[in-house]
Amino acid sequence: MNVYDSNRMVDILKPFGYTTTDVPDDADMVILNTCHIREKATDKVFSELGRLRDYKEAKKAKGEKMLLAVAGCVAQAEGEFIAKRAPYVDMVIGTQTYHELPEMIAQALGAYGSNRIINTDFPVEQKFDYLPEEQQDVTPSAFLSIQEGCDKFCTFCVVPYTRGSEYSRTVETILDEAKRLIDAGAKEINVLGQNVNAFHGEDKLGNTWDLGKLLFAIAELPVERIRYTTSHPRDMHDSLYAAHRDLPKLMPWLHLPIQSGSDNILKHMNRKHTADDYKRIIDRLRTDRPDIAFGSDIIVGFPGETEEDFQATMDIVKYTNYSQCYSFKYSARPGTPAANMGGLVAEHIKSERLTRLQTLIREQQASFNKKCEGITMPVLIDRESDTEGRLVGHTEYNQSVIMDGNKRLYGQIIDVAITNGTPNNLVGNIVTTEDKTLKDIKTA
Ligand code: 5AD
Ligand code: SF4
Repeated sequence: MNVYDSNRMVDILKPFGYTTTDVPDDADMVILNTCHIREKATDKVFSELGRLRDYKEAKKAKGEKMLLAVAGCVAQAEGEFIAKRAPYVDMVIGTQTYHELPEMIAQALGAYGSNRIINTDFPVEQKFDYLPEEQQDVTPSAFLSIQEGCDKFCTFCVVPYTRGSEYSRTVETILDEAKRLIDAGAKEINVLGQNVNAFHGEDKLGNTWDLGKLLFAIAELPVERIRYTTSHPRDMHDSLYAAHRDLPKLMPWLHLPIQSGSDNILKHMNRKHTADDYKRIIDRLRTDRPDIAFGSDIIVGFPGETEEDFQATMDIVKYTNYSQCYSFKYSARPGTPAANMGGLVAEHIKSERLTRLQTLIREQQASFNKKCEGITMPVLIDRESDTEGRLVGHTEYNQSVIMDGNKRLYGQIIDVAITNGTPNNLVGNIVTTEDKTLKDIKTA
């Protein structure tokens, strides 16, 4: 979501003469787009700000200005605190205000050094209305935000507070954006939302569409691959199952966070589903799309978590057999209900549980990737490696694949024979007919 937002900020600022740069040294403006989801991410903001301050000072010594802005969820949640703790920050840009950036920049430049701009308003509809149509740097795998915010209020999570309540864009604006992305070269569309399968966007006739229906419409467009993230087990619906069953373009991989395998913990997390509900979803998707694989997010050490609860989490991980899974130690987020719950789990127990869980997950990932050895898989080449002559791409299961190849293949989906599967990625050789011909010529 933050990558998507950053790209939109770039689009908004382009008409005002701003372009992106890889180094902050001589920048006229640095926008730090931040994440508030876990404690660690927030801590990073202040250390990063300290570093950026040095660049700002260096510019000042030359008699030049560098606007320093904090955007994203930390800005939204801790705007006043940032202003106090880091007085050298010129702008605090909340999650729903980046369409107002040009105005904020003009104000900040006018008041440079004397006054700060803090904008943490919440006009979510407006933000989407004001997104410029043109998009730059469209990547072969492109993000398309269709929904923002969350009404679920899981007790550990800041998102409902930092991103606000659920808002769905209209079907028309989404499909228009999808068409533009495809025209600009996107082969894969990642449909995004904090709670993407809670999507309920209106079409021109005033009918409400769910995510399943929207995916069927996107699949009509000349796109090769479709994914969606992140979903909630409670919002799986019939047309979404149908999409998994009937749309070959919808990739056979689903990130479906479970958070915990213990019904007791799930209840205290306010997830409003049980471990069995989750298993039924997995079973149904496997029936509808037998080649599907799953990803997840899991929290260990939620307040009150016993060894038995943790074992239930290990059990659901064994049941689902994930191909990729993120896992985190619970960290209390200010303002969330869980932050005031008793039964805190000691840090060393959290660490020890995380290690056990990650060992299991790593085994599952390793075995999934190992099974790919000897198979030829379609890979979307979406990144050049730092090493010359090396390419990086993604399989239908979202595994990274590293291979030798010419960068002219960037943006194409090509067959790759997988030679090696490690827990974190795959290695393979390109098997296009074109390359075969080239090889034949060379041998001749
Ligand atoms: N502590 C640890 N992990 C968290 N997540 C969200 N909030 C917290 C928290 N307070 C994790 C959840 C979520 C992912 C994006 O981050 O697993 O799905
Ligand atoms: Fe946070 Fe996801 Fe729960 Fe919403 S559904 S509160 S975004 S964890």
